[in-house]
Parts: sequence; C-alpha cells; structure tokens
Amino acid sequence: MTRSRVRIAVVGAGGIGASAHLPAVSSLADEADLVAIVDLDEAKRDEAGARFGCANLYDDLSVMLAEQQPDLVALATPPSLHEPMAIEVMRAGAWAYCEKPLTGSLASADRIIAAERETGQWCVGVSQFRYAGGSRQAYDALRSRRWGRPLIGVAHTTWYRGPEYWDIPWRGKFRTEFGGATTTQAYHAIDLLVWLMGGDWSGVSAIVDTLDRPIEVEDASAAVLRFESGAIATLLSTVLSSAQETRLQVTTERATIDLDTLYLPQRDEWSLRQVDADGATQIVADWPEPEPPLEVNAHRAQIRSVLSAWREGRAPEVTAAEARKTLELLTALYKSSATRVEVARGEISSGDPFYEALDAAGPDRKGLAARV
Ligand SMILES: NC(=O)c1ccc[n+]([C@@H]2O[C@H](COP(=O)([O-])OP(=O)(O)OC[C@H]3O[C@@H](n4cnc5c(N)ncnc54)[C@H](O)[C@@H]3O)[C@@H](O)[C@H]2O)c1
Repeated sequence: MTRSRVRIAVVGAGGIGASAHLPAVSSLADEADLVAIVDLDEAKRDEAGARFGCANLYDDLSVMLAEQQPDLVALATPPSLHEPMAIEVMRAGAWAYCEKPLTGSLASADRIIAAERETGQWCVGVSQFRYAGGSRQAYDALRSRRWGRPLIGVAHTTWYRGPEYWDIPWRGKFRTEFGGATTTQAYHAIDLLVWLMGGDWSGVSAIVDTLDRPIEVEDASAAVLRFESGAIATLLSTVLSSAQETRLQVTTERATIDLDTLYLPQRDEWSLRQVDADGATQIVADWPEPEPPLEVNAHRAQIRSVLSAWREGRAPEVTAAEARKTLELLTALYKSSATRVEVARGEISSGDPFYEALDAAGPDRKGLAARV
C-alpha cells in the first residue's frame, strides 16, 4: 500500500529551524502535516507554534515521539545532539532529517549507520546546496560529460561572523560544535563541489587555524584536494572575510562553470564560460533544462525529495553513509593540518584518534598557540 500524507515534527526552533525547516515543512501542506515542534526554549517554541499554526509544542523529544508518532523528524538542534536524537528518532520508527554536520566523528557516524540498519529507518543528512537552484542541472551536465571531464575545482566560503555570533553557548566549542568555519560554514560549498566533481576525492592537504576570533574551533582553513580522476581543487573556508560570498568553480576540458552566491544558490547565479575559436571568452546561455526560481528555501526542495522516497519506500539520496563521505573529507582535512602530511581517503579508521573526533588535534592546537 502506498502511504500518502507524511507526519513531520521539527526539533529545534532556533536559527535554522525557524528560518528554514519550519517554513519548508509548512509550505508542503499538500503532502505533509507539521504535527509537532520541540524546543527547550519556551519562548521560541511558542513563537514558532503561533507562526506556523502548530498547537503540539514539546520540550522533550521522547515525549513527543511517544505521543505524536511522526513519520519524519527534522533535527535542527546543536551538532552534539544529532547522534543521540537521530538514533532515538529511528528507534521510534521514524526517519530523521538531520542538520549538518551529521555528527562529530566517523565513529559516531558509524553508530548512526548501524542504527539505520538496526531499525530499517533512514537518517537523511541536510545537504541543501545540492537541491538549490541550478545545482542538479550542473551535476547532470557534468556527469553527461557535455563539457568534458572536470579538471579543477574551487570552493571558497568567505563569510563574516562578528563576536556576537558566538554568544550562543554551543558555538565555538569543540565539545558542542566539533569544528569551525570549515565544518559549520563551508560545509555546503565543500559538499556541493565534491559532489559536482564526481565525489572521488582521494587525498587532502590542509592548514587549519584560529587566527582571530576568541573561539576554540578554527576560524580559517585552506586545503588542496586530489581526486582519483587526477582532478585537483582548492577549498578556502573562513568567517573572517568582509567579502561575504560563496564562490564555486569547476573547470572541465571545454568550459568553466561558476556559482557566485551567499546562502541560497539560485539558477541565475550560475554562469558557464567557454573560449571560442578567436580566443575570446563567451558566456554560454544555453544552460540545460531551465528551472523556475526556488520557492521558500532549498531545505524545502530536499524535504520534498525525502518525502517522495519515504512514500515510495526507497532509500533517500543523502543517507547517513552519503553524509559520512563529507564528514570523512572534513576529518581528513583536520588530520592533514595536524600531521602536516596529505591524508588519503580511507586511512582514518578505528584506533586513529581522528576516527573518534572530527578535529582530534584541535584542542592541542589551541594549547600550543597559547604556549608560544
Ligand atoms: N543548513 C544550514 O544552512 C544551516 C544553517 C545554520 C545552522 N545549521 C545547523 O543547524 C543546527 C542548529 O543551528 P542553529 O544555528 O539553528 O542553532 P540555534 O542555537 O539557533 O538553535 C538550536 C535550537 O535547538 C534548541 N535545543 C537545544 N537543545 C535542545 C533539546 N535537547 N531539545 C529540543 N531543543 C533543543 C535550542 O533551544 C535552539 O532553539 C546546527 O547543527 C548548525 O550547524 C545549518
């Protein structure tokens, strides 16, 4: 029997919960019902309930799961809560739609993957840039080799966060945020670039540091990536830049594709250039399959895709194993900075301190800096 309407609960009505998850879920009223909002903070809970027309407000995930029996639970809570909440949600018989980063270590990701197998449910990782305007078209065109093989990639996340950003207690600390600019802010651009390039990264060299902000986690990193195909890429991730932009570039054998955006890529922020017979650079207008502008936000587009998978009883696109791939790259990037050597994909496994923590040397890095 095909199931139709989906019962969705949102946990965390803070920054991204109130600005993306709740608007996305309530705009999907043709196929889903917002059945509950959970937040420890009574004011945020009440405000979200009034704004999104939901009367079932909770301060406790377990109570909500028992009373509402949702089908899908969006987790927009601090990173250190993702693993326990995702596992609890799946054991209660629902799918989780979990904010990035999926969790704080490869060991933790493997526990989430084990819970998917144990329960038959899925933990979907938020990867909303893959669902933003133009991303799927770029992906399909690159896979079709329309412009030849991807050779060079760039993902630069140059954002600005002032001191007040870290007033929220979980931010800036290894115990609760796990990583800084690379994991928290640049996650989307890195995830999108590696997906566009074919996903086959094979090694990373990086420098990670805390250059200015009074926080434990890094405020800047620079990395070089190597791919199985021979392609190379650079990643720059910072919260110190007044430039406030997200720049992606993929150069293939016959074209260069650019995305210039900030938080929500739109179709018209992409461009495609080719050099013609006279050596002049042309902007190419015939981007395949034009699509309408995104309504609401890109979380909505991903949730819609998750709902289709749920209804059809098939695996969603960004399972915990898929989200783990990005987490592995981030972990390797931190390990490379700590060890000052290139880290290969697959080398971080049980017994390696970086298997147990995303940036295992981060606390030591800060200690060293204080002693110098
Ligand atoms: N995908 C994106 O573009 C994006 C953007 C921003 C943040 N995020 C991610 O979303 C997550 C949340 O970030 P944020 O900036 O919205 O944080 P936030 O602190 O603004 O909001 C988190 C909310 O969770 C609530 N909460 C904390 N513990 C809880 C518990 N035990 N039960 C119920 N509610 C609880 C808090 O009261 C708060 O309202 C993080 O993982 C962050 O990295 C993703």
